[in-house]
Amino acid sequence: MITPKTFSKKLLQWSKSNPRDYPWIGEKDPYKIWISEVILQQTRSEQGKNYYENFIKKFPTVRALADATEDSILHCWKGLGYYSRARNLHHAAKTILVKFQGKFPKSYEELLTLKGIGEYSAAAISSFAYNSPKAVVDGNVVRVLSRMLGMEIDFHTSAGKLKFIEIANSYLDKENAGAYNQAIMNFGAVQCMPRQPDCLNCIFSQNCFAYQNNCIDKLPVRNKKITLKRRYIHYFYLVNSKGEIAIHQRVKKDIWQKLYELPAIETSKKMEFKSISSIEKATDLFRFSRNSRVENYGKTVQKLSHQEIHASYYCLKTTHIDSKIKPEFCFVKPENLVNFAFPKILSTFLENIINKK
Ligand code: ADE
Repeated sequence: MITPKTFSKKLLQWSKSNPRDYPWIGEKDPYKIWISEVILQQTRSEQGKNYYENFIKKFPTVRALADATEDSILHCWKGLGYYSRARNLHHAAKTILVKFQGKFPKSYEELLTLKGIGEYSAAAISSFAYNSPKAVVDGNVVRVLSRMLGMEIDFHTSAGKLKFIEIANSYLDKENAGAYNQAIMNFGAVQCMPRQPDCLNCIFSQNCFAYQNNCIDKLPVRNKKITLKRRYIHYFYLVNSKGEIAIHQRVKKDIWQKLYELPAIETSKKMEFKSISSIEKATDLFRFSRNSRVENYGKTVQKLSHQEIHASYYCLKTTHIDSKIKPEFCFVKPENLVNFAFPKILSTFLENIINKK
């Protein structure tokens, strides 16, 4: 088995000859590192770059982020998904102002006290900014180490997580923790990819357990099948007599908390419009907008890690709005809808409608 010393030496050499050009690479400001890491938990580097640059431009410091409105932060996060991450950023920024006098905490342990910062982000921030000897363990690192060392334990179990953290720290080059962490993540991203890793051109092919034993596609192991929850959401593009659209802000504590949405009815089974209009949940909505003309605006499916969302869209044109029934709804001109943060499943739909007009 390859020794930690040989592994890190070869890895750092590889990293020097395979530089990646992203704005967060080599960054030493812990605030910017934090933002980049949270964005990169949501998306790939290429797409993340634009989000990162916009976010830093809008909120250049932890103080600017703490002082911002939650709406403006969610707006910047539009399209990235998992909006609780954006809300946690805001919460943690405010904590840094109050509890740490506006100075970004330096130690791994202090970082862990902030909302939304777990072991992964704390290791990334403290090693990149201060070279603290903490190994990052993300999907890239798990893949590289499990293949290299033939680790057959599932990272998504508590024992597996502990094992990977232990092994990752034992392989970490403690003197060059920041550079090593960056190198192993880059290696996972461009050389040891999930599918079709470039083994023929890999500096570790002689040392790699998975390559030598012909089991690259079996590692890392994933035992538990994710149970997918299927949701059926029927959205209503409800237009009043002035051509304005009904929207409201979600209060329910779920993945879309505080985002905006169109009037919606969720069912646990697939349903066509005819059946929806007769169910109890729909009564209020149809009393709210009497005498509506209905048009079918199509369907889409969005797959998230644990949910499959089946959205169908209907246009309801109405001349009678009874705002007493749904006081939480407000009406907005179509061209102003871009000023509100909607879940991706709605923003894509709305962009299509507005661009068509
Ligand atoms: N994925 C998450 N953080 C990363 C980083 N700093 N470099 C490359 N890939 C990453």
